Amino acid sequence: MVSDIISAKDLHKVDPVFGQLSFDNHEQVVFCNDKDTGLKAIIGIHNTVLGPALGGTRMWQYANEWEALNDVLRLSRGMTYKSAITGLNLGGGKAVIIGDAKTQKTPELMKKFGEFVHSLSGRYITAEDVGMETADMDLVREVTPYVTGISESKGGAGNPSPITAYGVFMGMKAAAKYKFGSDILEDKTIFVQGIGHVGESLVEHLVDEGANVFIADINQERLEEVRSKYGVTIYGGSDIYSEPMDIYAPCALGATINDDTINKLQAKVIAGAANNQLATEEKHGKILQEKGIVYAPDFLINAGGIINVYAELEGYDKKEIMRKTENIYNTTLEILDNAEKNNITTNHAALNIAQNRIEERKNENSN
Ligand SMILES: NC(=O)c1ccc[n+]([C@@H]2O[C@H](COP(=O)([O-])OP(=O)(O)OC[C@H]3O[C@@H](n4cnc5c(N)ncnc54)[C@H](O)[C@@H]3O)[C@@H](O)[C@H]2O)c1
Repeated sequence: MVSDIISAKDLHKVDPVFGQLSFDNHEQVVFCNDKDTGLKAIIGIHNTVLGPALGGTRMWQYANEWEALNDVLRLSRGMTYKSAITGLNLGGGKAVIIGDAKTQKTPELMKKFGEFVHSLSGRYITAEDVGMETADMDLVREVTPYVTGISESKGGAGNPSPITAYGVFMGMKAAAKYKFGSDILEDKTIFVQGIGHVGESLVEHLVDEGANVFIADINQERLEEVRSKYGVTIYGGSDIYSEPMDIYAPCALGATINDDTINKLQAKVIAGAANNQLATEEKHGKILQEKGIVYAPDFLINAGGIINVYAELEGYDKKEIMRKTENIYNTTLEILDNAEKNNITTNHAALNIAQNRIEERKNENSN
């Protein structure tokens, strides 16, 4: 089927890439298509001032291509700031593959995707995200060295999710310290939304600490599995946002803090793994600030995974990974204090630090 040709007079209404609201001066956006494997992917390279753009690949059945493009633009931008604030010499990039990871992911498709990654000669380095497993990265590794998150048996740092969860746990504790005066989570009511790779690991930390954990997921099997493993409660209601709770931990997809949910939110702290939790950063960040809800910036506290995969490139060890990840606690506290002192949102405070680091490096590079 031939797609409709947009008439020249209507082209200005479209602005498909550079005019997207989520377009933020990205350096490069690559559309990948392969008829034989059915691959349809988009790679977003947001910024490479600090180093090659590293970020995972998400496979998701998007409602349409706009949604996929919007996602990759937002996610790759987030990676730039995540690496910058964590002190890593990496830029920000991300990829999305359009499709159902359960039924459409094949070894051929993953290898073809790897070939596209390879064609960028290291400007973009991939890893896991939603819908991806370590085994998928091992397949990509067969066609390109520009991949991290590969199996430990193949020389990689393995699945980054447990480290991500540990970092989120550290950030959550810091936010609790700030809000409640203590970082002990025992008896705190915590809702974990999304109990996939990261969510489950986070549940384990929370249960170990004696928190009162509720779990929510669209996957019923996962819910049963995690409940029986950790003895937590499956949330049975229909509107998690209206529930009274101490801490809301978004660990599924982004933008759950939006115009529909923000006024219902009962949580006192928000700290989770999902990328881009605020649908509109400044607007929703400001409302949270006004409501006195402490928001631990997502790109700061979910950096454990990138710290882990960075170790594959830099060759540092597990001890150093854990030290860097634990430090998320201190950085979170600093940012929460900084936001309060300057009367800005916590997201804004975190972004300022990340952007300053990039600007400084840019100036050094140009001298
Ligand atoms: N894996 C990492 O190391 C890492 C690092 C940084 C950030 N993140 C982010 O953390 C989040 C979770 O990552 P993951 O690796 O655990 O992914 P995953 O695919 O393993 O888990 C996601 C879970 O969320 C559930 N889910 C999807 N939509 C939902 C909804 N509307 N309501 C409730 N549950 C829903 C899915 O069923 C699944 O169980 C993602 O946003 C990801 O981008 C992950």
